[in-house]
Amino acid sequence: MSAGVKSVSDGGNRAFSGRHRPGVAQDAIALCLSGALPGLGDGVLSARELSIASMAVAARSDLWEHLVPQQRDGRWYALLHRSGNYDVWLLGWDPGHETDWHDHGGSSGSFAVARGRLVEQFRRPRTGTAGSRAVRAGGAVTFGPAHVHNVTHGAGAPALSVHVYSPALTAMTYYHLTDYGFSAFETVSVESPHGERSHVADEEQAFTEWDRRAVDDLLASVRRDLQRRPVPREAMEALAAGATLVDIRPAEERALEGEIPGATVIGRNVLEWRLDPQNDHRIPELARYDAEIILVCSDGYASSLAAATLRRLGLARATDLDGGYHAWKAAGLPTTA
Ligand SMILES: [Fe+2]
Repeated sequence: MSAGVKSVSDGGNRAFSGRHRPGVAQDAIALCLSGALPGLGDGVLSARELSIASMAVAARSDLWEHLVPQQRDGRWYALLHRSGNYDVWLLGWDPGHETDWHDHGGSSGSFAVARGRLVEQFRRPRTGTAGSRAVRAGGAVTFGPAHVHNVTHGAGAPALSVHVYSPALTAMTYYHLTDYGFSAFETVSVESPHGERSHVADEEQAFTEWDRRAVDDLLASVRRDLQRRPVPREAMEALAAGATLVDIRPAEERALEGEIPGATVIGRNVLEWRLDPQNDHRIPELARYDAEIILVCSDGYASSLAAATLRRLGLARATDLDGGYHAWKAAGLPTTA
């Protein structure tokens, strides 16, 4: 690895690299922002403040032009400024560059295009479907803490954009866009907005309208995205190591079949509301984006669909017990029956 290149491993078999270009006069950026936003305090920036900040810095090429590399061999980025409540980044885009679908770990943000053209695909808040918009030089997009998007280089010349996040960006969750909707699959700590994420061509998927399919096809699609579904013995080991088994069977089934000691019972009809970290009716100790949740139903079918829904809420480690309660009991593991 050459000097200046940072890489982040997700712990799996992929690594991402991008070229970080240090050497920014942070004071000059701070001065630019204080001029654009007089009275800016220590709190989280509002949508209006984020938009003004990104556009103000994008318009001041004299502050960052010297950072744009003449020779490029991949994604590159530069941290322009970081304070206690926000950070500012310059990102370069060449043809073919793409971020993949991601959120911003609870940070709100704005990006302004300083040069060239970008295309933002985004998750619509109400429907969960994908929309798309082009952002040209001089334009900006501002988004809230739950925003999920995939930004690509638009047609034509290389592009430059200025990104502002508040609170400062610390982690991002990546998503697959599946037939069932968006499915979170990994959360990574990041040192940059998305300059380190390489494009994975074979995962490229165009959004299609909702279609009609048999539930078995839906189940197969969902399980491909869950990737890891523990068998009973693995689930018991995970439970001992701190994971939570969540039994979603109705009361009459539990009474008839027995229960798993140590499992948490949450009815299927309230599951999303109890585990959504943003919901007022959540269970605080369980509703975390990094929680290891293993759902249990009778045979491991409905639990797969429910786990996929939890991933759509951002619980990237949610999965389900392969074979359900019946497999657990058949393996001779503890039950109340
Ligand atoms: Fe982003």
